[in-house]
Amino acid sequence: MPLPEGYQFRKLEVSDYNKNYLETLKALTTVGDISEEAFGGIYEEWAKYPGLYQPHVIVNEKGVVVATGMLLVEKKAIHEGGKVGHIEDIAVAESEQGKKLGLTMITSLSSIGEKLGCYKIILDCSPHNIGFYEKCGFTHSGAEMVKRFDQ
Ligand code: ACO
Repeated sequence: MPLPEGYQFRKLEVSDYNKNYLETLKALTTVGDISEEAFGGIYEEWAKYPGLYQPHVIVNEKGVVVATGMLLVEKKAIHEGGKVGHIEDIAVAESEQGKKLGLTMITSLSSIGEKLGCYKIILDCSPHNIGFYEKCGFTHSGAEMVKRFDQ
């Protein structure tokens, strides 16, 4: 799926802090107050494990972040030491929704996972997004379980 002219899918850069990265994530959930220094620490932690954490963004023609997505690549013992890709933290800025940016983010992350040798890509989503992920080629499988420690 081609992006609108001037838009680009790329890896997250630490300078995206000043290009609306966290504001875009707010389309998904609460982000809270994260200083530039704190964000630098998060970015550094991800960068220590580049095979595992693969955060990406789509930027518009002005270089502003308009979509986010994380691919996590998990090395397993099962399936002869196979790899599973996990997609997390997909968000498209409200004003940019409906332009196929979400679809491009998911197909691009899936394609990276496939090239890296993942035998499957999995993700959790709320029921109202099932239709979106079906349009991205995913099928419903199993159920999400959670135990929370933050309440
Ligand atoms: N339900 C059903 N279909 C949908 C939905 C939905 N919620 N959202 C989009 N679609 C359809 C579109 O109509 C389009 O269909 P078409 O090809 O027939 O025209 C197709 O899916 C592709 O849509 P996009 O334009 O790529 O969608 P968009 O860029 O708006 O991104 C997204 C969708 C990511 C759900 C966006 O609305 C968003 O950021 N929402 C808020 C945050 C969120 O819920 N993120 C997902 C969390 S799950 C996770 O992170 C793993």
